[in-house]
Amino acid sequence: MKEVLELVEKRKQEFAQLPLFDFLQDSSIDPMQRLAWSPCLAPFAMGFGELNKYDLRKEPTNDPIQELINKHTYEDDHHWAWFLEDLEKLGLNYSMKFSDAMRFFWGEETKKTRQICHQIALYAFQAEPVVVLAALEAIEATGNVALSCTAKVSKELQQITHKNYRYFGAYHLYVETGHTTGTDNIEQLIASIQLTEEQKAKSLEIVEKVFEVFTEAVHEMMNYAEKQRKNQPLIAK
Ligand SMILES: [Fe+2]
Repeated sequence: MKEVLELVEKRKQEFAQLPLFDFLQDSSIDPMQRLAWSPCLAPFAMGFGELNKYDLRKEPTNDPIQELINKHTYEDDHHWAWFLEDLEKLGLNYSMKFSDAMRFFWGEETKKTRQICHQIALYAFQAEPVVVLAALEAIEATGNVALSCTAKVSKELQQITHKNYRYFGAYHLYVETGHTTGTDNIEQLIASIQLTEEQKAKSLEIVEKVFEVFTEAVHEMMNYAEKQRKNQPLIAK
């Protein structure tokens, strides 16, 4: 598994270079505006709970790796509620016709973001637990990059609004350790898992796929961020 984790680290460094993360750290831009793209995250933020509950969690199990995965799914299946809270606190909880909201949710603006959970579920379907574990490590790495940036913006914003942003802020970053389990011991244990050639190939493939879908979604959010200005209605085609 060591090689798989090395690939995760390499792709994580590349992921951190994406333009959205520079934009989030650009203190010359109003912090509210730097988060104005956040409604675009809805398909992922809302879908990720379901991915954990219904796709990644497999109970009952006797497999220790699947147990590890199951435990992790309980940590990650309810963060969507913090996302909804933050939309309200950010003033992005627009009133709009239900059909317009659906057009946005299923529209062109969020097409790539909708693919994140969908593609991960497809790749994880009937995959061995160790391969799913590799996917989790990659997902955690992307989350760590994104939340490290949004936590900084949220901190700036908090100084102005005195509101605590649980999804985009430090609260979420500290809950997500950046790894599947959060203890160095387990990380070493994961690294020492011996994979067959087939398991290794599938694990490397799923890691590449996870970074690919998140990268495309992050580009999509950046496109929206460039168009969106705070207090404007959602842009939906
Ligand atoms: Fe989360």
